[in-house]
Amino acid sequence: KLAIATCTAPVNIAVVKYWGKRNEDLILPINSSLSVTLDQDQLKTTTTVASCRSFQEDRIWLNGKEEDINHPRLQSCLREIRRLARKRRSDGDSSVDVGCLSHKVHICSVNNFPTAAGLASSAAGFACLVYTLARVYGVEGELSGIARQGSGSACRSMYGGFVQWIMGEAEDGRDSVAQQVEPESHWPDLRVLVLVASAERKPVGSTSGMQTSVETSSLLKHRAESVVPGRMKQMIEAVRKRDFAAFADLTMRDSNQFHATCLDTYPPIFYLNTVSRQVIALVHQYNRHYGEARVAYTFDAGPNAVIYTLQQHVAEFLSVVRHFFPPDNNGKKFVTGLQVEHLG
Ligand code: DP6
Repeated sequence: KLAIATCTAPVNIAVVKYWGKRNEDLILPINSSLSVTLDQDQLKTTTTVASCRSFQEDRIWLNGKEEDINHPRLQSCLREIRRLARKRRSDGDSSVDVGCLSHKVHICSVNNFPTAAGLASSAAGFACLVYTLARVYGVEGELSGIARQGSGSACRSMYGGFVQWIMGEAEDGRDSVAQQVEPESHWPDLRVLVLVASAERKPVGSTSGMQTSVETSSLLKHRAESVVPGRMKQMIEAVRKRDFAAFADLTMRDSNQFHATCLDTYPPIFYLNTVSRQVIALVHQYNRHYGEARVAYTFDAGPNAVIYTLQQHVAEFLSVVRHFFPPDNNGKKFVTGLQVEHLG
């Protein structure tokens, strides 16, 4: 007997950033964070999980290449989903597939965007893995705590729309879960543009980068303790009221503070490049021209700019971007709805 499921999970882009863990094994953060999950059909991971009696061992293929199944975070997710399935089953949940539970799984996962270019591929990847495994085993309900153990930001991709990851207090991490603040439909004219400044792999991955930041940056400690709690409240309020100017202001300040903590890390970490800094300057000039924030940028652990704006400003802002960053030989690439613009 073969049980099989295919699911997709979208990327999420944080507007209040997660950077730093208080527990490395359980992936517990030093501050709460908030993100917007992109549309299902945009930047996403598609994962198929098959479970069969004849499979000899668990195996995984990422973008067509077999990878090591013994990766500790992958093992955490597999172990936790199986544990949850057994527990649900013993609690009398008849939808859990007991047959499957004793079988090995084969996992195939593909991204429709460059991996590790700072485009949150691990978030969509682990969210998708956990969700798809849960489908194969017949488990439903709160799964973000398991996705979190694959990659912190993955817990936020378990929900659509505006999502907060509450840092929690418990030592075992049971209260460190994602929660939807508002569904996607709450703010229908909000748009996300990804300006690709480089599709190369980032030099310092998030996991090791944030580890060094926790060890060496006093600015990060200040940020986590004294800045983020208030910013989370303000951001949730801006989202609830659909106040774009406040949303934009908080988003840009938070991105800048995150990159400041990278610079305060010792040795320092540089994720932004010349193009990133030009985009920052352009956005501020554009907003200043109108005397209001119409566009916001945010950068994760890489040089690509993610732009938040409203539908009515997309065409004009993109034409300004194209004016200052004319398409190179690769040309510009548009992905429907969400526009991905390559900046050479
Ligand atoms: C800058 O979730 O990739 O994108 O938990 O170690 O897997 P691990 O880190 P990861 O870090 C994401 C950092 C960020 C900010 C964010 O998404 O909140």
